[in-house]
Amino acid sequence: MNRKEFILKSCSACIGASALTFLSSCAATKFSSGKLTKDGILIDTKEFALKEKDRYRLYIVVRNDSLLFPICVYRFTDTDYSAVWMQCAHQGAELNVAGDYLQCPAHGSEYDNRGRVTNGPADRDLRTFPVTINNNQLFIDLRKV
Ligand code: FES
Repeated sequence: MNRKEFILKSCSACIGASALTFLSSCAATKFSSGKLTKDGILIDTKEFALKEKDRYRLYIVVRNDSLLFPICVYRFTDTDYSAVWMQCAHQGAELNVAGDYLQCPAHGSEYDNRGRVTNGPADRDLRTFPVTINNNQLFIDLRKV
C-alpha cells in the first residue's frame, strides 16, 4: 500500500468511526416529559422500546417543567427499573448521563445506575424514587421529593 492509499483508507476509517459514534450517541438519549399526576409521573414502558424487536433503551431522561432537576429512569428488565434524581449530592449540580452511570460536570463525582456514589468528592448516594408498573405504565412516586 502506498502513502496515498494509506491516507485514504485511514481517513475513511476515521470518518466511519466518527459517524458511528455520532449516531450511537444521538440514539442513546431519549427525553420524555412523562405525565404528571398528583403523586408522581407516569411513563409508558413502550418509550423504552427500540425499533428492533426485543431491544430496549438503557435509560430515559425525564424532563418536566414541574421538576427542578431531571430524573434518569434506567431499565434493567421488564419489571426492574430505577429512577434517579439528577442532582449531584456534593454541591447540587445537574448530572450528565454517561450510559450506565451518571457523572457530575462540576467536580467529577460519579454514580451508578441505582444512584450509588462510586467516585467522589460526593460522599452520599443520589435521591431515588420508587418505581411501580401497572398496565405498561411506570409510576415514579415523587412523594419523597
Ligand atoms: S457538585 Fe457534583 S461533584 Fe461537586
